[in-house]
Amino acid sequence: MPSVALVTGASSGLGEALAPLLATAGWRVYGMSRRAVTLEGVVALPADITDAEAVQRAVQQLLRAEGRLDAVLHCAGVGGAGAVESMPQERAEVVMRTNFWGSWNVCQATLGPLRESPRGRLLLVSSIAGHMGIPFRSVYCASKAAVIALSDSLRLEVRGSALQVSCVSPGDIATNSIATQYRQPAAELDPLYRARYQRADDAMAGNVAQGMSADYVAGRMLRILERDTLTPHYVIGPPVQKASTLARRLLPARAWEWVLSRYYS
Ligand SMILES: NC(=O)c1ccc[n+]([C@@H]2O[C@H](COP(=O)([O-])OP(=O)(O)OC[C@H]3O[C@@H](n4cnc5c(N)ncnc54)[C@H](OP(=O)(O)O)[C@@H]3O)[C@@H](O)[C@H]2O)c1
Repeated sequence: MPSVALVTGASSGLGEALAPLLATAGWRVYGMSRRAVTLEGVVALPADITDAEAVQRAVQQLLRAEGRLDAVLHCAGVGGAGAVESMPQERAEVVMRTNFWGSWNVCQATLGPLRESPRGRLLLVSSIAGHMGIPFRSVYCASKAAVIALSDSLRLEVRGSALQVSCVSPGDIATNSIATQYRQPAAELDPLYRARYQRADDAMAGNVAQGMSADYVAGRMLRILERDTLTPHYVIGPPVQKASTLARRLLPARAWEWVLSRYYS
């Protein structure tokens, strides 16, 4: 019997690379996103992860068809940029609702069947941005920090079961995410912020465009999935991005703030 995996965010970017890769590796794969996917070897399971009931219904559909669920690779997420002072509340809420509450909904719908698997695996995708506060990306950073905390809490909760939970924090990945996310127009910002916002936003867009390929990150996630023992965190990225998460933890807060402020001057 092939093992069964659910990949969220399967219609674009990382999830779109990961779902067919898993299918090639012999998994039976279901791809969740709002748009129905048509990917080789992947069964489309459309659902909006911010809608708890829709996620439950979709997972029940998978369970009726397969009778089991062995792995969830939760890639779905959105970005967002703006100033804390003036980013429209409803835009900011979409980011938190998708990245945090969406992860929550996926966990609630899948933890039961995952715990029944003899080799259950749950990989929650956060971001290097979840390890720090980046200017004008506050709600994204907060939402991804919340995913890290969710994963850490969950690991301790499921102790005693065969389920292993881990949080994957990638650096920049060259996907469509910048093009599809809300970015507050610079003209809406107070003049105090405007020039720095524009530079930060341009830098972010440039870094993402030159980021790792989704195929590379998907390959790394497959290798994590195949491990016998999962550690709490995996950071995937070039050395300088990986080092930033370490520096954030090891440097005194003001020293770290000085480093970041030089980068986002
Ligand atoms: N790109 C980067 O530089 C980067 C860096 C670090 C971490 N990440 C994280 O990696 C993950 C994948 O990012 P990506 O760059 O591959 O993004 P992407 O290309 O924009 O794809 C996002 C995926 O999430 C799905 N999604 C968004 N909102 C959803 C909702 N409400 N319900 C169901 N599915 C939803 C989208 O599908 P539909 O629109 O069809 O629903 C799409 O399949 C995200 O969690 C992101 O935060 C990305």
